[in-house]
Amino acid sequence: KRHLISAADLTRDDAVLILDTAEEMARVADRPIKKLPTLRGRTVVNLFFEDSTRTRISFEAAAKRLSADVINFSAKGSSVSKGESLKDTALTLEAMGADAVVIRHHDSGAPHRLATSGWIGGSVVNAGDGTHEHPTQALLDAFTVRRRLIGPDAGLGKDLAGRRITVVGDVLHSRVARSNVHLLTTLGAEVTLVAPPTLLPIGVETWPCEVSYDLDAVLPKSDAVMMLRVQRERMNAAFFPTEREYARRYGLDGDRMARMPEDAIVMHPGPMNRGMEITAEVADSPRCTAVEQVANGVSIRMAVLYLLLGGSEPATTPHAVTPN
Ligand code: CP
Repeated sequence: KRHLISAADLTRDDAVLILDTAEEMARVADRPIKKLPTLRGRTVVNLFFEDSTRTRISFEAAAKRLSADVINFSAKGSSVSKGESLKDTALTLEAMGADAVVIRHHDSGAPHRLATSGWIGGSVVNAGDGTHEHPTQALLDAFTVRRRLIGPDAGLGKDLAGRRITVVGDVLHSRVARSNVHLLTTLGAEVTLVAPPTLLPIGVETWPCEVSYDLDAVLPKSDAVMMLRVQRERMNAAFFPTEREYARRYGLDGDRMARMPEDAIVMHPGPMNRGMEITAEVADSPRCTAVEQVANGVSIRMAVLYLLLGGSEPATTPHAVTPN
């Protein structure tokens, strides 16, 4: 495959290959010199139209650990604020010879548009588009579950057959939830969504998962509980219970965590609203993998860039010096 747009596009074999490659990359991170020469001479552009801490930094770290050159583009402070289009921005990047463009965009479908438009010749990686998908987040989440529940070496070649994963909260606005439902079920896990009815998307009944409104009933049957960020910036106040009511019914606190099986883990993609979907007690407990997920994100993104670019020809710069 040349692009990574959607977790739904990945077969079980694709996903296991990425997870296994990420295990190899994690070993590089444990070495004194954390660099491989694999992508020397290649250029990775981080094209971010929306804010990000974890995804942007970890793609940059991943590309640099593979010895690629990295160009970081943030829409804030660029000519996008003067009205420049996605097309003209893409053509500008293409003129600089981008081998891969990692794009985060507020519009669902923008990475697909970039990959199919012909504006750029390199690979496109979706780093989160609107409320649609965030495939590398789902991959790093699956990697974290596999490492924690099966173990790094024992996990090689394995999927998540029979593992019970509960995803809780603002599913309506969550690209993380959609990508996770696709990827985790492709890997054999049983996924249950728990959310207030007003924070579930139309058509959720066609998703390959169970839906529940009762968090306390689902917790004892969960191997991993993934808390979603309440996306207040995308929220229509009419559809949201009060913050106190939300935390009471759908927030994870110490008492609720105690209802989970002893070895079950708590996950959060970040950034966290402490005191809303998760209490500080849970966020800071050893059962919470939020920081581990960030570290695993570098290994996953190294694996994705390596698999997309490792065997391909470097990009040419179409508008580079031409003979007279
Ligand atoms: N999980 C995630 O996508 O975090 P950022 O928005 O900080 O990249």
